[in-house]
Amino acid sequence: MADIFEKAEQVLAEIAAQTPANAAELESFRIQYLGTKGLIKSLMEEMRNVPNERKRDYGQLMNRLKQEAEAKHDALKEVFESQSQGAAAQAIDLTAPGEPFPLGSRHPVAVTMNRIVEIFTRMGFSVVDGPEIEDDWHNFTAMNTPEDHPARDMQDTFYVVDAPGMLLRTHTSPVQARVMENRQPPIRIIAPGRVYRNETISTRSHAQFHQVEGLYVDEGVSFADLKQTLLYFAQEMFGATKIRLRPSFFPFTEPSAEMDIWLGTDTEKNARLTKGTGWLEILGCGMVDPQVLENCGIDSKKYSGFAFGMGIERQALRLYEIGDIRLLFENDVRFLRQFAAAM
Ligand code: DAH
Repeated sequence: MADIFEKAEQVLAEIAAQTPANAAELESFRIQYLGTKGLIKSLMEEMRNVPNERKRDYGQLMNRLKQEAEAKHDALKEVFESQSQGAAAQAIDLTAPGEPFPLGSRHPVAVTMNRIVEIFTRMGFSVVDGPEIEDDWHNFTAMNTPEDHPARDMQDTFYVVDAPGMLLRTHTSPVQARVMENRQPPIRIIAPGRVYRNETISTRSHAQFHQVEGLYVDEGVSFADLKQTLLYFAQEMFGATKIRLRPSFFPFTEPSAEMDIWLGTDTEKNARLTKGTGWLEILGCGMVDPQVLENCGIDSKKYSGFAFGMGIERQALRLYEIGDIRLLFENDVRFLRQFAAAM
Protein backbone atom coordinates (compact mmCIF):
# COMPACT_ATOMS: atom_id res chain seq x y z
CA MET A 1 0.00 0.00 0.00
CA ALA A 2 2.94 2.31 0.62
CA ASP A 3 3.57 1.94 -3.13
CA ILE A 4 0.53 3.78 -4.23
CA PHE A 5 1.25 6.70 -1.91
CA GLU A 6 4.81 6.71 -3.12
CA LYS A 7 3.69 6.65 -6.72
CA ALA A 8 1.37 9.60 -6.13
CA GLU A 9 4.13 11.61 -4.38
CA GLN A 10 6.35 10.90 -7.34
CA VAL A 11 3.79 12.18 -9.82
CA LEU A 12 3.37 15.32 -7.73
CA ALA A 13 7.10 15.98 -7.89
CA GLU A 14 7.08 15.27 -11.60
CA ILE A 15 4.33 17.81 -12.24
CA ALA A 16 6.26 20.45 -10.31
CA ALA A 17 9.34 19.73 -12.43
CA GLN A 18 7.56 19.88 -15.80
CA THR A 19 8.17 22.97 -17.95
CA PRO A 20 6.13 22.86 -21.17
CA ALA A 21 7.75 25.43 -23.49
CA ASN A 22 4.91 26.06 -25.92
CA ALA A 23 1.22 25.40 -26.56
CA ALA A 24 1.85 21.96 -28.09
CA GLU A 25 3.94 20.79 -25.14
CA LEU A 26 1.33 22.15 -22.76
CA GLU A 27 -1.32 20.10 -24.53
CA SER A 28 0.76 16.94 -24.10
CA PHE A 29 1.13 17.83 -20.43
CA ARG A 30 -2.63 18.17 -20.11
CA ILE A 31 -3.29 14.83 -21.77
CA GLN A 32 -0.63 13.06 -19.75
CA TYR A 33 -1.82 14.26 -16.34
CA LEU A 34 -5.33 15.69 -16.60
CA GLY A 35 -6.77 13.76 -19.56
CA THR A 36 -9.58 11.22 -19.18
CA LYS A 37 -6.97 8.50 -19.58
CA GLY A 38 -4.34 10.51 -17.76
CA LEU A 39 -2.17 9.65 -14.74
CA ILE A 40 -4.26 11.46 -12.15
CA LYS A 41 -7.39 9.66 -13.26
CA SER A 42 -5.72 6.25 -12.97
CA LEU A 43 -4.29 7.12 -9.55
CA MET A 44 -7.78 8.05 -8.42
CA GLU A 45 -9.07 4.69 -9.50
CA GLU A 46 -6.65 3.14 -7.01
CA MET A 47 -8.78 4.59 -4.20
CA ARG A 48 -10.80 1.39 -3.91
CA ASN A 49 -7.60 -0.51 -2.96
CA VAL A 50 -6.70 1.95 -0.23
CA PRO A 51 -7.63 0.72 3.28
CA ASN A 52 -10.47 2.66 4.83
CA GLU A 53 -8.42 4.34 7.55
CA ARG A 54 -6.10 5.82 4.90
CA LYS A 55 -8.70 6.81 2.29
CA ARG A 56 -8.92 10.34 3.71
CA ASP A 57 -5.15 10.93 3.36
CA TYR A 58 -5.19 9.52 -0.12
CA GLY A 59 -8.10 11.73 -1.10
CA GLN A 60 -6.25 14.81 0.08
CA LEU A 61 -3.18 13.78 -1.85
CA MET A 62 -5.29 13.35 -5.00
CA ASN A 63 -6.74 16.86 -4.55
CA ARG A 64 -3.30 18.36 -4.27
CA LEU A 65 -2.20 16.54 -7.42
CA LYS A 66 -5.16 17.77 -9.38
CA GLN A 67 -4.84 21.34 -8.16
CA GLU A 68 -1.12 21.49 -8.93
CA ALA A 69 -1.61 20.18 -12.45
CA GLU A 70 -4.56 22.44 -13.20
CA ALA A 71 -2.92 25.56 -11.80
CA LYS A 72 0.21 24.96 -13.85
CA HIS A 73 -1.82 24.25 -16.96
CA ASP A 74 -4.04 27.31 -16.67
CA ALA A 75 -1.20 29.72 -15.94
CA LEU A 76 0.89 28.54 -18.89
CA LYS A 77 -2.11 28.52 -21.20
CA GLU A 78 -2.64 32.21 -20.56
CA VAL A 79 1.01 32.98 -21.22
CA PHE A 80 1.07 31.12 -24.55
CA GLU A 81 -2.20 32.67 -25.74
CA SER A 82 -1.10 36.23 -25.15
CA GLN A 83 2.23 35.45 -26.82
CA SER A 84 0.53 34.17 -29.96
CA GLN A 85 -1.70 37.23 -30.17
CA GLY A 86 1.33 39.48 -29.94
CA ALA A 87 3.03 37.51 -32.66
CA ALA A 88 0.05 37.79 -34.99
CA ALA A 89 -0.01 41.53 -34.53
CA GLN A 90 3.66 41.75 -35.43
CA ALA A 91 3.46 39.50 -38.48
CA ILE A 92 2.60 42.17 -41.07
CA ASP A 93 3.29 41.02 -44.58
CA LEU A 94 4.59 44.08 -46.37
CA THR A 95 4.42 42.34 -49.73
CA ALA A 96 0.68 41.60 -49.46
CA PRO A 97 -1.57 43.61 -51.81
CA GLY A 98 -3.18 46.63 -50.12
CA GLU A 99 -6.79 47.01 -49.08
CA PRO A 100 -8.79 48.03 -52.15
CA PHE A 101 -9.92 51.67 -51.91
CA PRO A 102 -12.66 52.10 -54.49
CA LEU A 103 -12.86 55.54 -56.09
CA GLY A 104 -16.27 57.10 -56.50
CA SER A 105 -17.31 58.97 -59.58
CA ARG A 106 -19.23 62.14 -60.22
CA HIS A 107 -22.88 61.89 -61.06
CA PRO A 108 -23.65 62.71 -64.71
CA VAL A 109 -25.84 65.60 -63.55
CA ALA A 110 -22.91 67.04 -61.58
CA VAL A 111 -20.58 66.54 -64.55
CA THR A 112 -23.01 68.36 -66.83
CA MET A 113 -23.51 71.15 -64.32
CA ASN A 114 -19.76 71.63 -63.97
CA ARG A 115 -19.43 71.85 -67.73
CA ILE A 116 -22.12 74.50 -68.03
CA VAL A 117 -20.58 76.48 -65.17
CA GLU A 118 -17.14 76.22 -66.71
CA ILE A 119 -18.28 77.61 -70.07
CA PHE A 120 -20.03 80.61 -68.53
CA THR A 121 -17.24 81.39 -66.07
CA ARG A 122 -14.94 81.57 -69.09
CA MET A 123 -17.20 84.41 -70.34
CA GLY A 124 -16.88 86.28 -67.04
CA PHE A 125 -20.01 85.03 -65.27
CA SER A 126 -19.59 84.29 -61.57
CA VAL A 127 -21.39 81.53 -59.69
CA VAL A 128 -23.93 82.41 -56.99
CA ASP A 129 -26.12 80.35 -54.74
CA GLY A 130 -29.65 80.79 -53.45
CA PRO A 131 -31.85 79.03 -50.89
CA GLU A 132 -33.90 76.00 -51.90
CA ILE A 133 -36.58 76.93 -49.36
CA GLU A 134 -37.66 80.22 -50.85
CA ASP A 135 -40.31 82.80 -50.06
CA ASP A 136 -43.25 83.58 -52.28
CA TRP A 137 -41.87 87.02 -53.13
CA HIS A 138 -38.60 85.84 -54.67
CA ASN A 139 -39.95 82.74 -56.36
CA PHE A 140 -43.03 84.35 -57.91
CA THR A 141 -43.98 87.94 -57.18
CA ALA A 142 -40.62 89.62 -57.74
CA MET A 143 -40.33 87.58 -60.93
CA ASN A 144 -43.49 89.27 -62.18
CA THR A 145 -45.80 86.37 -61.38
CA PRO A 146 -48.30 87.82 -58.87
CA GLU A 147 -50.67 85.73 -56.82
CA ASP A 148 -53.45 85.35 -59.40
CA HIS A 149 -51.18 84.93 -62.43
CA PRO A 150 -52.02 81.85 -64.53
CA ALA A 151 -48.31 81.03 -64.90
CA ARG A 152 -48.33 79.94 -61.25
CA ASP A 153 -50.44 76.93 -62.19
CA MET A 154 -47.61 75.62 -64.33
CA GLN A 155 -45.24 75.64 -61.38
CA ASP A 156 -47.13 74.07 -58.48
CA THR A 157 -44.81 73.24 -55.64
CA PHE A 158 -44.52 72.13 -52.01
CA TYR A 159 -45.35 74.61 -49.27
CA VAL A 160 -43.86 74.68 -45.77
CA VAL A 161 -46.77 74.03 -43.42
CA ASP A 162 -45.22 75.74 -40.40
CA ALA A 163 -44.03 78.80 -42.31
CA PRO A 164 -46.72 80.52 -44.38
CA GLY A 165 -45.37 81.96 -47.61
CA MET A 166 -42.35 79.63 -47.66
CA LEU A 167 -42.03 77.06 -50.41
CA LEU A 168 -39.57 74.86 -52.26
CA ARG A 169 -38.37 76.98 -55.17
CA THR A 170 -39.80 75.94 -58.52
CA HIS A 171 -36.92 77.38 -60.55
CA THR A 172 -33.55 79.06 -60.08
CA SER A 173 -34.98 82.40 -61.27
CA PRO A 174 -35.47 83.74 -57.68
CA VAL A 175 -31.68 83.93 -57.42
CA GLN A 176 -31.89 86.72 -60.02
CA ALA A 177 -34.04 88.74 -57.63
CA ARG A 178 -31.79 88.01 -54.65
CA VAL A 179 -28.69 89.19 -56.51
CA MET A 180 -30.32 92.34 -57.91
CA GLU A 181 -31.74 93.33 -54.52
CA ASN A 182 -28.26 93.24 -53.08
CA ARG A 183 -26.12 94.92 -55.67
CA GLN A 184 -26.15 97.27 -58.60
CA PRO A 185 -25.03 96.46 -62.17
CA PRO A 186 -22.86 95.36 -63.80
CA ILE A 187 -24.24 91.94 -62.84
CA ARG A 188 -23.11 88.82 -64.62
CA ILE A 189 -24.01 85.63 -62.73
CA ILE A 190 -25.04 82.03 -63.13
CA ALA A 191 -26.89 80.13 -60.43
CA PRO A 192 -26.93 76.33 -60.57
CA GLY A 193 -28.99 74.32 -58.13
CA ARG A 194 -31.89 72.10 -57.15
CA VAL A 195 -35.50 72.99 -57.87
CA TYR A 196 -38.82 71.34 -57.05
CA ARG A 197 -42.20 70.88 -58.67
CA ASN A 198 -45.32 69.12 -57.52
CA GLU A 199 -45.55 66.81 -60.47
CA THR A 200 -44.36 63.33 -61.25
CA ILE A 201 -42.80 62.22 -64.50
CA SER A 202 -43.39 58.64 -63.49
CA THR A 203 -44.10 56.69 -60.32
CA ARG A 204 -40.39 56.06 -59.90
CA SER A 205 -39.20 59.63 -60.33
CA HIS A 206 -39.50 62.38 -57.78
CA ALA A 207 -40.31 66.05 -58.04
CA GLN A 208 -36.78 67.38 -57.80
CA PHE A 209 -34.44 68.36 -60.58
CA HIS A 210 -31.68 70.83 -61.39
CA GLN A 211 -31.44 74.09 -63.28
CA VAL A 212 -28.87 76.71 -64.14
CA GLU A 213 -29.98 80.32 -64.24
CA GLY A 214 -28.09 83.09 -66.00
CA LEU A 215 -28.40 86.87 -65.63
CA TYR A 216 -26.59 89.75 -67.27
CA VAL A 217 -27.55 93.32 -66.38
CA ASP A 218 -25.64 96.45 -67.40
CA GLU A 219 -26.03 99.63 -69.40
CA GLY A 220 -26.92 98.95 -73.02
CA VAL A 221 -27.29 95.15 -72.87
CA SER A 222 -29.18 94.09 -76.01
CA PHE A 223 -30.82 91.08 -77.57
CA ALA A 224 -27.70 90.72 -79.75
CA ASP A 225 -25.65 90.14 -76.58
CA LEU A 226 -28.10 87.47 -75.51
CA LYS A 227 -27.89 85.74 -78.85
CA GLN A 228 -24.11 85.80 -79.08
CA THR A 229 -23.66 84.54 -75.52
CA LEU A 230 -26.03 81.63 -76.06
CA LEU A 231 -24.53 80.77 -79.45
CA TYR A 232 -21.10 80.52 -77.85
CA PHE A 233 -22.55 78.30 -75.13
CA ALA A 234 -24.25 76.01 -77.68
CA GLN A 235 -21.01 75.68 -79.62
CA GLU A 236 -18.91 74.91 -76.57
CA MET A 237 -21.40 72.63 -74.88
CA PHE A 238 -22.78 70.64 -77.79
CA GLY A 239 -20.59 71.51 -80.74
CA ALA A 240 -23.68 73.04 -82.33
CA THR A 241 -23.17 75.22 -85.39
CA LYS A 242 -26.48 77.08 -85.33
CA ILE A 243 -29.07 78.20 -82.82
CA ARG A 244 -32.65 79.32 -83.32
CA LEU A 245 -34.62 81.63 -81.02
CA ARG A 246 -38.36 80.96 -81.11
CA PRO A 247 -40.77 83.51 -79.59
CA SER A 248 -42.16 82.30 -76.29
CA PHE A 249 -43.56 83.61 -73.04
CA PHE A 250 -42.12 83.92 -69.55
CA PRO A 251 -43.52 86.40 -67.02
CA PHE A 252 -40.06 87.74 -66.13
CA THR A 253 -38.71 88.41 -69.64
CA GLU A 254 -39.94 90.55 -72.50
CA PRO A 255 -39.45 89.56 -75.23
CA SER A 256 -39.01 85.89 -74.36
CA ALA A 257 -37.65 83.08 -76.47
CA GLU A 258 -36.86 79.42 -76.49
CA MET A 259 -33.47 78.43 -77.85
CA ASP A 260 -33.06 75.40 -80.08
CA ILE A 261 -29.77 74.01 -81.33
CA TRP A 262 -29.31 72.61 -84.81
CA LEU A 263 -28.61 68.87 -84.91
CA GLY A 264 -29.88 68.16 -88.40
CA THR A 265 -31.64 65.01 -89.52
CA ASP A 266 -28.67 63.27 -91.16
CA THR A 267 -28.60 60.43 -88.69
CA GLU A 268 -31.53 58.39 -87.53
CA LYS A 269 -30.73 59.34 -83.96
CA ASN A 270 -30.87 63.08 -84.68
CA ALA A 271 -34.02 62.71 -86.72
CA ARG A 272 -35.66 60.91 -83.80
CA LEU A 273 -34.35 63.34 -81.14
CA THR A 274 -35.59 66.35 -83.08
CA LYS A 275 -38.84 64.73 -84.20
CA GLY A 276 -37.79 65.21 -87.79
CA THR A 277 -37.22 68.98 -87.56
CA GLY A 278 -33.45 69.00 -86.99
CA TRP A 279 -33.93 71.43 -84.05
CA LEU A 280 -33.66 70.50 -80.38
CA GLU A 281 -34.99 72.72 -77.61
CA ILE A 282 -32.38 73.58 -74.97
CA LEU A 283 -33.41 76.53 -72.82
CA GLY A 284 -35.66 79.52 -72.14
CA CYS A 285 -34.39 83.08 -72.27
CA GLY A 286 -35.27 86.69 -72.88
CA MET A 287 -34.68 90.34 -72.03
CA VAL A 288 -35.29 90.98 -68.32
CA ASP A 289 -38.73 92.59 -67.97
CA PRO A 290 -38.27 96.22 -66.77
CA GLN A 291 -40.83 95.47 -64.04
CA VAL A 292 -38.49 92.78 -62.62
CA LEU A 293 -35.62 95.28 -62.54
CA GLU A 294 -37.82 97.80 -60.72
CA ASN A 295 -39.10 95.13 -58.29
CA CYS A 296 -35.50 94.57 -57.27
CA GLY A 297 -34.46 98.20 -56.98
CA ILE A 298 -32.66 98.59 -60.30
CA ASP A 299 -33.35 101.61 -62.53
CA SER A 300 -34.91 100.17 -65.68
CA LYS A 301 -34.37 103.45 -67.56
CA LYS A 302 -30.65 103.19 -67.08
CA TYR A 303 -30.08 99.43 -67.21
CA SER A 304 -31.21 96.51 -69.30
CA GLY A 305 -30.38 92.83 -69.19
CA PHE A 306 -30.94 89.34 -70.43
CA ALA A 307 -31.65 86.12 -68.56
CA PHE A 308 -31.84 82.44 -69.34
CA GLY A 309 -32.64 79.21 -67.56
CA MET A 310 -32.19 75.55 -68.40
CA GLY A 311 -32.86 72.16 -66.91
CA ILE A 312 -29.63 70.24 -66.35
CA GLU A 313 -31.03 66.71 -66.58
CA ARG A 314 -32.18 67.43 -70.10
CA GLN A 315 -28.68 68.59 -71.09
CA ALA A 316 -27.16 65.49 -69.47
CA LEU A 317 -29.43 63.21 -71.51
CA ARG A 318 -28.39 65.02 -74.68
CA LEU A 319 -24.68 65.08 -73.81
CA TYR A 320 -24.39 61.41 -72.92
CA GLU A 321 -27.15 60.12 -75.18
CA ILE A 322 -29.03 58.64 -72.25
CA GLY A 323 -32.39 57.29 -73.33
CA ASP A 324 -34.40 57.51 -70.11
CA ILE A 325 -34.32 60.30 -67.51
CA ARG A 326 -35.14 57.85 -64.71
CA LEU A 327 -31.65 56.35 -65.02
CA LEU A 328 -30.34 59.58 -63.52
CA PHE A 329 -32.17 59.03 -60.23
CA GLU A 330 -32.02 55.28 -59.69
CA ASN A 331 -28.44 55.28 -58.38
CA ASP A 332 -27.59 52.03 -60.10
CA VAL A 333 -23.81 51.77 -59.86
CA ARG A 334 -23.61 49.88 -63.15
CA PHE A 335 -24.95 53.02 -64.80
CA LEU A 336 -23.05 55.55 -62.67
CA ARG A 337 -19.69 53.78 -63.00
CA GLN A 338 -19.64 54.71 -66.68
CA PHE A 339 -18.96 58.30 -65.72
CA ALA A 340 -15.95 57.50 -63.55
CA ALA A 341 -13.56 59.27 -65.90
CA ALA A 342 -15.67 62.40 -66.36
CA MET A 343 -14.90 65.50 -64.33
N1 DAH B 1 -37.53 79.76 -64.93
C1 DAH B 1 -37.95 79.19 -66.20
C2 DAH B 1 -38.51 77.79 -65.95
O1 DAH B 1 -38.25 77.23 -64.93
C3 DAH B 1 -36.78 79.11 -67.15
C4 DAH B 1 -36.36 80.42 -67.63
C5 DAH B 1 -36.87 80.95 -68.78
C6 DAH B 1 -35.43 81.20 -66.93
C7 DAH B 1 -36.50 82.17 -69.29
C8 DAH B 1 -35.06 82.44 -67.40
C9 DAH B 1 -35.60 82.92 -68.59
O2 DAH B 1 -34.18 83.20 -66.77
O3 DAH B 1 -35.20 84.13 -69.04
O4 DAH B 1 -39.20 77.29 -66.78
